[in-house]
Amino acid sequence: MDSIEVAGLQFVKFIDQKQISLIVDRLAEDIKKQYYNSRPIVVIILKGSIHFASQLLLESELDAELVFIKISSYDGLNSTGKINIELDITQSIENRDVLIIEDIVDTGTTLYQYKMTLVDRRPKSVKICTLLMKPSKLQYPLEVSFCGLEIADKFVIGYGLDYNEQGRNLADIYQLKEE
Ligand code: IMP
Ligand code: MG
Repeated sequence: MDSIEVAGLQFVKFIDQKQISLIVDRLAEDIKKQYYNSRPIVVIILKGSIHFASQLLLESELDAELVFIKISSYDGLNSTGKINIELDITQSIENRDVLIIEDIVDTGTTLYQYKMTLVDRRPKSVKICTLLMKPSKLQYPLEVSFCGLEIADKFVIGYGLDYNEQGRNLADIYQLKEE
């Protein structure tokens, strides 16, 4: 189906499974090269990154330690752009290579702030791998080492990405339809 309704909004197919697989294959190769003689700590950001991280890590056959974290943004009334770390890494990352896997970088608030908290713990390196990125929205000098695809500033769902907790398990990625 090229057009779907999710939680009352219309979405159109934007990136299909095959295209996603090609993107993931490329990123898996890049990551394999980057960490060929390392055993990185891979930080998977819940929940949106699950399908991407899973496919990427299987494809790359990366020898890595997996950690799951959960971050939400303080939003709404004061709009401070502060993040709330609901679940964090508990083990030491000192002198380790750390790779953060994210579904999408929008303003960059989440990852910019979270990366700071990791850097304080003296890892050897911290790099970011994201499936999607909206460069026109970026508000922080966030270095993204591995980016699957740069997209326009339109809301997307599917392949882990949600709208009000809906649409995460769609195999393709859909974009909000223009009215
Ligand atoms: P940030 O603005 O870069 O901090 O992005 C915060 C979070 O908002 C991301 O990790 C996503 O979970 C979510 N997000 C941003 N853009 C989209 C989108 O187009 N669809 C679904 N979630 C999004
Ligand atoms: Mg997210």
